Amino acid sequence: MVNSESNNDNIRGYGGGAVDAVISVDEVARQAAEIAEDITLDQLDELAGNEAHVSINNLVAGYGQMEILHDLNLRVGKAQSLCLIGPNGAGKSTILHAIFGFNRIFSGSIEIGSGSDSVDVTRLTPNQKLAQAGIAYILQDKSIFPGMTVEENLWMGGFLKDKPTEAKAAAEMVFDKYSRLADRRKHKAGVLSGGERRLLEISRALVMNPEVLLVDEPSIGLEPRFIDMVFEILDDLQNNEGKTIIMVEQNAKKGLEFADIGYVLVSGQLAIAGKGDDLLKNPKVGELFLGG
Ligand SMILES: Nc1ncnc2c1ncn2[C@@H]1O[C@H](COP(=O)(O)OP(=O)(O)OP(=O)(O)O)[C@@H](O)[C@H]1O
Ligand SMILES: [Mg+2]
Repeated sequence: MVNSESNNDNIRGYGGGAVDAVISVDEVARQAAEIAEDITLDQLDELAGNEAHVSINNLVAGYGQMEILHDLNLRVGKAQSLCLIGPNGAGKSTILHAIFGFNRIFSGSIEIGSGSDSVDVTRLTPNQKLAQAGIAYILQDKSIFPGMTVEENLWMGGFLKDKPTEAKAAAEMVFDKYSRLADRRKHKAGVLSGGERRLLEISRALVMNPEVLLVDEPSIGLEPRFIDMVFEILDDLQNNEGKTIIMVEQNAKKGLEFADIGYVLVSGQLAIAGKGDDLLKNPKVGELFLGG
């Protein structure tokens, strides 16, 4: 067991609304483990429309010698969205880290594409994932450079391009899409509102024109009106631009309303998998993760 000790004092509430009795992380994890279901690969494939664009196969991964994810499988189709929910320390961010190449993979594989077109990306570095495999990781909060202008921050998103002019051209395409950012291109990023900053973080990832977006807690720290804005942006990227989205969302209600597929992760293992809508209606999920 790897998760419990480090999180004892890390107690947070779940769900979007008021929570009468906040139970501890350990208690959520214990109760969530009790509702775990047997999940077959066929179920995961079916949820992904039987044509997965991102596949994680029997992944065992962690940090240093520590195993966090135990024999994990994941399937998401092209232009689908998948939301991971679960208690603090369950390993949700670790899944995104593993896909992007930030942590240690002991065994298992990660593939992009389906059938004969699939590519094994398990051992690629983050830079290779971004430049070659079309995977972008959108960092949780505080990743922009506040002293640089909005424009310079966007150019940074293209640092892997062969020439700076290519990064600048790609940044212009992003500005064409988001006038709200274009209007502020010469402003220091540090003066942006929370919502604008999140938009900049997402936009910076778009400079490389990725196919797969890994998004860790897009709503964290945002006022409600900005939360809706962020989900509208992600909705547009999925449904109008065909991006495949894998997200972690502490606001389980928002995340599951948004996503086609929901996975509940507990102690590094899949406990429940279903359509986002079905998980929203699942009373056991509701009680633990949706604020009752
Ligand atoms: N860089 C790291 N080095 C060592 N252990 C880590 C590292 N990052 C995370 N862990 C550990 O891995 C486990 C899973 O953490 P992870 O961040 O994936 O959880 P999470 O489900 O995203 O939780 P939260 O909801 O709090 O963000 C935890 O026990 C955590 O302490
Ligand atoms: Mg996390």
